[in-house]
Amino acid sequence: MADGGFTAAVERETSAIWDKVKERVSPLEWRVHAPLIAEINALKRERNAVILAHNYMTPEIFHGVGDFVGDSLGLAREAAACDAAVIVQAGVLFMAETSKVLAPDKTVLIPDLRAGCSLASSITAADVRLIRQRHPTLPIVAYVNTTAEVKAEVDICCTSANAVQVVEHAAREWGVDTVILLPDEHLSRNVAAQTRVRILAWKGACEVHQRFDAQDVRDMRAAYPDAEILAHPECPADVLAEADFAGSTAAMADHVARKGVGQVVLLTECSMADNLMASAPGVQFLKPCNLCPHMKRITLEGIRDCLVTGRHEVTVDPGVAERARLAVQRMIDLPTPPQGRGYARERLGAAVDLLWA
Ligand code: 13P
Ligand code: SF4
Repeated sequence: MADGGFTAAVERETSAIWDKVKERVSPLEWRVHAPLIAEINALKRERNAVILAHNYMTPEIFHGVGDFVGDSLGLAREAAACDAAVIVQAGVLFMAETSKVLAPDKTVLIPDLRAGCSLASSITAADVRLIRQRHPTLPIVAYVNTTAEVKAEVDICCTSANAVQVVEHAAREWGVDTVILLPDEHLSRNVAAQTRVRILAWKGACEVHQRFDAQDVRDMRAAYPDAEILAHPECPADVLAEADFAGSTAAMADHVARKGVGQVVLLTECSMADNLMASAPGVQFLKPCNLCPHMKRITLEGIRDCLVTGRHEVTVDPGVAERARLAVQRMIDLPTPPQGRGYARERLGAAVDLLWA
């Protein structure tokens, strides 16, 4: 077989990465990935660029070219803190917009502009303005999985890592007992179960996580009685009620790392388990998992092309960005909550009121 760019020098340069991914990537695939990884890492140095890679990226991206990897809260913090001239967002569009909002002087690139999110497209800025008219005294919290235009209309943002903390903070600051939390109905129900603050919710859902149901948990429990079952809080509340732990992608990674051994079921996007294998070799990951079609639009070829051509630059109208920054910055300024607690099970089942009912 022709080397196709997989030269001895490339093989040497990428051997440490190969050690991390070889459980999930075949040697034939590696011959295609390794030259691209070497090329991208050289381009990053030339362009003074960093790659912010979400936990749902495929292993060759996550381990091969990601400079900062993590959940959406961690990546937003990194965008604000890093001193590179160029940020390549290996994630979806709302994450790239968040980076641009936090780092307006940096060039933010995304390899594929079609990398959307079913939550971000479930609500518009006009929807939020109508909600504000209807509930003028209540704080509005938006999940970061929203467009910059939506963020510009709200009071503060949250991620799944800090949603309970942000909702409680907003209730305290506004001196109210009710908070509007947009746009994920399931996240809102799961947050409501962790707090006495009353939640008004929107009707959005993550197309990946809403496909899990409580029967999936029971089936996996019956098949693997010793396995620990972890779920993302975008899953329906009855999934979390039967899972052993729930938290953001970073909180799940942290939980697996602390566990160290045994069997784990991750009810989340497929690449998450692939990426964790390298850091938790003693853990056996049992799937089911679902693919996020938006995250999967990001490829090594796309990352290489955007570094070569400068496409696709993500821009946000400066007026929108300024107002969105206030909401994101208020979140960033809160201390990161401890990862360990997760969405504990005891109080799950609390009701939320639906804004559209
Ligand atoms: P995290 O903030 O947990 O990384 O989640 C982002 C996301 O899009 C999950 O579907
Ligand atoms: Fe959006 Fe769900 Fe994909 Fe995350 S997994 S980017 S919430 S569609």
